Amino acid sequence: MSESRTDHGLLTQLQPAAERLLNRHLSVAKDWMPHEYVPWSQGRDFDVEPWTPDQPRLTGVAQVAFEVNLLTEDNLPSYHYEIMTAFGRDGAWGTWGHRWTAEEARHAIVLRDYLMVTRNIDPVALERGRMQTMQAGYSTEEKPTIQVMAYVAFQELATRLSHRNTGRYSNDPVADRIMARISLDENLHMLFYRDIVAEAIKLDPSAAVKAVAAEVASFHMPGVGIEGYRRKAAQIAMAGIYDLRVHHDEVVWPLLRNWGLFDLEGLDGEAERAREELRARLDALDQAASRFEARRAERVEREEGVEPAAQLAQVELAGARDSA
Ligand SMILES: [Fe+2]
Ligand SMILES: [Fe+2]
Repeated sequence: MSESRTDHGLLTQLQPAAERLLNRHLSVAKDWMPHEYVPWSQGRDFDVEPWTPDQPRLTGVAQVAFEVNLLTEDNLPSYHYEIMTAFGRDGAWGTWGHRWTAEEARHAIVLRDYLMVTRNIDPVALERGRMQTMQAGYSTEEKPTIQVMAYVAFQELATRLSHRNTGRYSNDPVADRIMARISLDENLHMLFYRDIVAEAIKLDPSAAVKAVAAEVASFHMPGVGIEGYRRKAAQIAMAGIYDLRVHHDEVVWPLLRNWGLFDLEGLDGEAERAREELRARLDALDQAASRFEARRAERVEREEGVEPAAQLAQVELAGARDSA
């Protein structure tokens, strides 16, 4: 992100709100120790007993979901760079950025320790995936500051649900407990960004509506740079861990409702048009989610040996977004 796209005026105006929300975050965030969530007694040396594909207790899709969630968390250096560049290091913004980074780092720590000790994932493939993902990096591209705020609000909520649902799907109480704990962090991150966007709406509703509408139109999960992401996202959607229905019902709409986006008055013409387009996009997303659910239900009924990823590739998040 270049310096020129950073909206210093907005950041200065939102500085008091950032400080208030940072303090609220610090007063409710609970300290937790990643090592206490890992069943260390299951650990064995890999040079004595190498990893073999029969060792994981997690099913195929649960393994894929854990891999995607961990590789997503692994890319933290890129997110840190993006956040610090977008929001700066001044005052509460800097304190928040560093605190957020420190909290996020726990997620990859606990996930990797769990997956290694339980042998629930191929350690070599995982390490190669980490190298590939981190070298690809992650960028918020040309997004202006206010749109980055909207992006991180949606992204934290999406990540919260992805982690939470992966834990439930795993059918492993240890994994479920880890994912529930991480989800609590993601929820508090979402609340910070959600309420920063609410403050930005108060300052300039038209600019905020345009940014939110643009973000709903272009949203990608942060894991989009992971090798084989489309295929993996399709499997995750097929399992109901994160699909269009979750995205529409549990990520996009709850935030739009909280912001009262469709009740805002006095918007300029451009913002009114952006909001109309957003409404149409949401309707299309809802319909795409229903079509996906119908197809998935048919598939489950037929239980035929069709390669699910091939068919689902057409309806995974990115594809549906383009058609919406
Ligand atoms: Fe995280
Ligand atoms: Fe987070």
